[in-house]
Amino acid sequence: NIAGRVDSVLTLMTLEEKIGQLTLFTSDIDVTGPTIRENYREDIKAGRVGAIFNAFGADYTRKLQELAVKETRLHIPLIFGYDVIHGHRTIFPIPLGEAASWDIAAMEQSARVAGDEASAQGLHWTFAPMCDIARDPRWGRMAEGAGEDTYLGSQIAIARVKGFQGNGIGDLHSVMACVKHFAAYGAVQAGRDYHTTDMSDRMLREVYLPPYKAAIDAGAATVMTSFNELDGVPATGNKYLMTDILRKEWNFKGFVVTDYTSIMEMIPHGIAEDTASAAALALEAGVDMDMQAGFYNSSLQRLVKEGKLKEGLVNEAVRHILTKKFELGLFDDPYRYCNPEREKATIMKPEYLTASRDVARKSMVLLKNDQHVLPLSKTTRSIAVIGPLADAKKEMIGSWSAAGEGAKAVSILEGIKTAVTPSTKIVFAKGCNINDDTTKGFAQALQAAKQADIVVMALGEAALMTGEAASRASLNLPGVQQQLLEAIYKTGKPIVVVLLNGRPLTINWMTQNKVAVLEAWFPGTEAGHAVADVLFGDYNPSGKLPVTFPRSVGQIPIFYNMKNTGRPMDPNNKYSSKYLDESNAPLFPFGYGLSYTTFEYGDVQLNKQEITQQEGITITCKVKNTGKREGEEVVQLYVHDLVGSVTRPVKELKGFKKVMLQPGESKEISFTLTQSDLSFYRRDMSFGTEPGKYDVFVGGNSDDLKKASFTLK
Ligand code: IFM
Repeated sequence: NIAGRVDSVLTLMTLEEKIGQLTLFTSDIDVTGPTIRENYREDIKAGRVGAIFNAFGADYTRKLQELAVKETRLHIPLIFGYDVIHGHRTIFPIPLGEAASWDIAAMEQSARVAGDEASAQGLHWTFAPMCDIARDPRWGRMAEGAGEDTYLGSQIAIARVKGFQGNGIGDLHSVMACVKHFAAYGAVQAGRDYHTTDMSDRMLREVYLPPYKAAIDAGAATVMTSFNELDGVPATGNKYLMTDILRKEWNFKGFVVTDYTSIMEMIPHGIAEDTASAAALALEAGVDMDMQAGFYNSSLQRLVKEGKLKEGLVNEAVRHILTKKFELGLFDDPYRYCNPEREKATIMKPEYLTASRDVARKSMVLLKNDQHVLPLSKTTRSIAVIGPLADAKKEMIGSWSAAGEGAKAVSILEGIKTAVTPSTKIVFAKGCNINDDTTKGFAQALQAAKQADIVVMALGEAALMTGEAASRASLNLPGVQQQLLEAIYKTGKPIVVVLLNGRPLTINWMTQNKVAVLEAWFPGTEAGHAVADVLFGDYNPSGKLPVTFPRSVGQIPIFYNMKNTGRPMDPNNKYSSKYLDESNAPLFPFGYGLSYTTFEYGDVQLNKQEITQQEGITITCKVKNTGKREGEEVVQLYVHDLVGSVTRPVKELKGFKKVMLQPGESKEISFTLTQSDLSFYRRDMSFGTEPGKYDVFVGGNSDDLKKASFTLK
């Protein structure tokens, strides 16, 4: 009976000891924010801290745990947390890349590997998954999430929680998940990190909240607040979010931690005038643990003693945290995750590298292949490998690969060299740096291209141009990379561009010229091998974009499930919803991605033309592989509710299936839509369906779909 054990500890605790449990400080191993805590060892010994982040390793965590267990009065063990975002030591593709696989089982497996490696290094807790819907690619943290779509994002959030938490809290091979950043951090204005979020409750509940909720329903142990304000109240002091929605509506039982010093940040936000009022605001909102600000430590005791804050609130927060410590088994054995032999046998073991390579190749999206340059032959006489990211290792593992070692990553150049036959000549030239303005290296790159039969160019962003504090106002290729590409293009050699990036880029030139384009994101430790698998056809690309690629920054926010407006775009009508100087259409739509084979969709069949409020509907569509190679297709189902008490998006993803088809093979793909799939927040904010007409669409991307219609009576 964990609740009983928690209370038995709580009754022994002084107020100061309780407040210590509500405090999380960083060690000095890693820096994930603007402050550092030099004296964390002293804090542990003095019982001023209940959890430590940025410390890992079986031996190191044991040493710190000993300080808590042996030197504090009540011997309460610490929780160790860390940003295990897309792999721990074996790095997988960035989360946006993984999302492009639309392979839920693969994403669960990736999180499971991460959970095993992290727990083998003494960690109990990851600060993932990030469940922030992101529709603005200027925001660098789009790289850490699942993209723009609520349905896809929710499925992925569930998979990641299941993967991280394995057989449940206390499973030695897993870590507690932390759903972040609650809430609506992905909607910061103008894509500028830490900026303001402001939206209607309808938008919040319909688009932004469901992935967090799905993760919590899947059993996520913890939640992290976000840096942004929402409706004028910073998330960390926002009772509506932390108590009304999270605890009361969603029945969340775990604990809530701040994002870094966000309690302190309520002072510059202009909602708290000093340390004490910020601490009180957070605790009263429902925030259990203070990461790094130390504001709970410095203020709560006085606030309680002066009668300004009820001790019951502190007790409740302590209960949430101690419960997890009991569930983790730390009171029974505080060192159960500190096993150096297990650590050695687990970290970067061959199966995990294979899993990373597998997910990496599944995440790649073939954007263009009009000349059918791809797949390349392994016996090509000579290949020039050009670009600032071709011989890069560190960049391959992307941002938020905290404990990942860039030096252990496979570069694209290495991957290509390993894949080809010994007789193939590989010439490498960097051409330019990722983000500088000198074209000095162009001559050497041109020379390499001229000697070759094929040119592979690895272009894109530096890893740290994405992730936190990495907003960009331009989405063009950084530096002189575009000029390099155009210079090489003039040689007339066939070009394959491999893009490495953590967000959509405005790569219009590539779509207008004869180059093949493979979107590889930041693929992780096995990057080079995975890229080579796709380039040489050992793997037939199957990824689909989890986010819309804009033509220009001026179109942002652009996403597939927009509203129709009262003046839908009409090219012949000036007074319709459009730009004077840009198309409304994206460069590449959500759900888009090519294969080395082709797929044909049959008509969409429905089992009924009319359904009642109690029924579901079955949608079937035949999909045929019309090419010469086996391949996987992500069959997507979208719905449009034509008329509602509030306007509805022009289409919404409501299902998808990834299917393997042999050449010439057809499969009937079926989906069932239930009443809950058709439900939405109606005019009065009640959640449910409304009678009326619906269109359903099935196809291989959000812009190329077959349609059928039904009526809900
Ligand atoms: O988990 C992160 C969060 O996403 C951004 N701020 C720092 C946290 C802990 O490192």
